[in-house]
Amino acid sequence: MSVISDLSLEDFISAEQIARLRRPANEAEGLPGRAYADPAFHELERQKLFPRGWLAIAYESDVAAPGDAVPVSVAGWDFIVTRNRAGEVKVFHNICRHRSMTVLTEPCTKAQTLQCRWHGWTYDLNGRLVATPDLGGVASNEQPGLEKASLGLHEVRSATWMHFVFVNIDGKAEPFGDFIQPVLDRIPDHDLSLTRFSGLTTSAQFDGNWKLAIETGCEDYHLPWVHPQLGGRSEVFKGERGGNTYVSIASRRVMPEYRNTGLPMFPQFSGKVAEDGLSNEIVLFFIVPNAILAVMDDHVVTNIYNPVAHDRTPTRRAFHFIGDAATDEAHRADREKVRDGWISVGEQDFPLVREVQTKHGQRDELGMPTRFSAYWEPAVHHFQNIVVDRLMA
Ligand code: FES
Ligand SMILES: [Fe+2]
Repeated sequence: MSVISDLSLEDFISAEQIARLRRPANEAEGLPGRAYADPAFHELERQKLFPRGWLAIAYESDVAAPGDAVPVSVAGWDFIVTRNRAGEVKVFHNICRHRSMTVLTEPCTKAQTLQCRWHGWTYDLNGRLVATPDLGGVASNEQPGLEKASLGLHEVRSATWMHFVFVNIDGKAEPFGDFIQPVLDRIPDHDLSLTRFSGLTTSAQFDGNWKLAIETGCEDYHLPWVHPQLGGRSEVFKGERGGNTYVSIASRRVMPEYRNTGLPMFPQFSGKVAEDGLSNEIVLFFIVPNAILAVMDDHVVTNIYNPVAHDRTPTRRAFHFIGDAATDEAHRADREKVRDGWISVGEQDFPLVREVQTKHGQRDELGMPTRFSAYWEPAVHHFQNIVVDRLMA
């Protein structure tokens, strides 16, 4: 894969700034404001960060049945996600091989083929070009010198895991299983195969840079100020780094809106409810760059953040529960309580994010760095280092 221009990290961040970010968290300075506020930096990320590694672009339920297909645009890249007749999820660049029209513009179901609406070139759900109507003239569908076999939709390397559809645009990332293994290693006692998608989803507009979406989530420092309903300071808080795959936080929280629902927990907790009113340990994984897996004691929430512009990051969230509790009618109200609790916490962050996004622009003009709490914000610090690692690679 080649890129049009040749933006590089050094055009935006000096060697001295990188060195200051690399210091231990107690002394380090954060990414400069332009990393959040400059559209050109976002373009650098679109070219050099999002195509590398594994990017979350959809949920498997978006293409629940064979013949389903949806157009998806994530981080400035346009895809077709489809499920072929064999039931496999396939992802293609949404670009016609004739003269580069968008092939799929609306979701569809029961499709046998996908037809470009400019000149009718037609592809099957494995991306093969199967028809070129009138290519050679009236009622003549072939043309010498044009080999249909070499003009299929360009497939994007993809993987499914925990209901996510991930892609690796440049095709050079490690196998997905190797990439995600550090997450599994962090929670060896959690049997994620017990979780089921409930059908519950939410979506929201995050009016800030995609990195703020991660950074506002991966610390508990702000909880008493912004989300007082989640309780006081957790003594078990940990911010961690899992190689270049994720940053995470482990914590215990009060969940007043949905404690004692009777939802089944992961088996190792055996319905354990602590007397101090806090949850069992929860682990929130921020899988770089744009996926979140929040492993609670009785449910799992996943997020996909879509970095569409330097200051705009729509997000989708999906809720998973243990076994039959994911869809059992008896637990419907419990599931909805969980969903509503997450919505109310998320909405408390939105106004802050809007202000911080604006301030990143101003502080850049003023040359003002940011700092970290080494106790509460190691994951924020790790995350910013991973961003730089990926842009330097
Ligand atoms: S651009 Fe798609 S058929 Fe011509
Ligand atoms: Fe928050």
